[in-house]
Amino acid sequence: MTIIVTGGAGFIGSNFIFYMLKKHPEYRIVCLDKLTYAGNLSTLKSVMKSPNFRFVKLDICDREGVYKLFEEEKPDMVVNFAAESHVDRSIENPSVFLETNILGTGVLMDGCRKYGIKRYHQVSTDEVYGDLPLDRPDLFFTEETPLHTSSPYSSSKAGADLLVLSYFRTYSLPVTISRCSNNYGPYHFPEKLIPLMIANCLNDKPLPVYGEGKNVRDWLYVEDHCKAIDLILSKGKVGEVYNVGGHNEKRNIDIVKLICKELGKSEDLITFVTDRKGHDMRYAIDPAKIHNELGWLPETKFDDGIKKTIEWYLENRDWWEEIISGEYQNYYEKMYGNR
Ligand code: NAD
Ligand code: TYD
Repeated sequence: MTIIVTGGAGFIGSNFIFYMLKKHPEYRIVCLDKLTYAGNLSTLKSVMKSPNFRFVKLDICDREGVYKLFEEEKPDMVVNFAAESHVDRSIENPSVFLETNILGTGVLMDGCRKYGIKRYHQVSTDEVYGDLPLDRPDLFFTEETPLHTSSPYSSSKAGADLLVLSYFRTYSLPVTISRCSNNYGPYHFPEKLIPLMIANCLNDKPLPVYGEGKNVRDWLYVEDHCKAIDLILSKGKVGEVYNVGGHNEKRNIDIVKLICKELGKSEDLITFVTDRKGHDMRYAIDPAKIHNELGWLPETKFDDGIKKTIEWYLENRDWWEEIISGEYQNYYEKMYGNR
């Protein structure tokens, strides 16, 4: 079994590679990644020399390069994590989101059609469903919830999902899609809420909470997401969408306060800043389908997962300090300087 994993030098893709190499040592994993600002080769250093692992620096939009790799590797499956993934960046510059997230997905699926494939899996997000109101805790996203996006990021992911489903209907390409809630865990890029707050806390810098911090996200430990994808690859039905989430809703402000508490820092570091444009209020997944049909259940409780994550950032300061000392500083100044 050869699996091409795109975007494997990023947060979830790298965790998926570690999980798969351990769980299925007989598989060959080929990581294809453009190494954008979000991709780090150092993340993959522990597996770089494994005989059943190969890294290829490549853009998923590069049709010739992608076809050449398919010809060489003859993959059985492709799991597509590669994407521009940050909502705030999509508000600043939408075009690269359309290129990578939609056109890149099309190139990968054309490769799958041309060279044959047992499965193409698209890693999508609950953000394609838009948001839920705070005063209706009884509402959840199911796979039947209409797509209703808010940001250029979520719109590009929804566009990709529709394209994937069209390749199933039109060409019978064996596809599956997972739509997961917010992940957290090791190797999470420090532009995102949890790692940003951990890094700022450790550096005694202000903790920028958007608006009033009442927005709710449904958090899942990254390894539980990886397990769900592995299960969908082996037992999922082609043409189907699976929502992935663990009923773990938290307000942003409560997450930030918890991080302060765990790190022994004062809540005085919290600074309320101008809200994100079009900010989604609440995400909440109904995971009944993947539970009932594939037997998936999240295993890591939030209290344990967040402790493990903070521990990881404490023990791996080199990894994130290197990131935040480079180009990230310009990004941070642009996003937060006058906010
Ligand atoms: P990330 O930003 O940490 O990593 C993205 C990776 O994709 C990077 O390694 C980057 O170099 C690579 N990449 C970007 N453009 C590329 C291109 N054109 N060609 C090849 N590689 C390219 O993202 P993440 O948080 O790991 O998310 C991975 C996937 O999971 C994305 O598709 C995202 O939409 C989805 N997702 C993320 C979350 C979350 O909470 N982070 C939740 C649900 C779904
Ligand atoms: P983020 O990690 O960017 O994920 P997403 O927007 O895809 O859910 O943000 C999570 C929540 O945290 C979101 O409601 C925006 C908020 N947020 C802040 O309040 N401050 C920040 O500095 C960041 C990055 C996010």
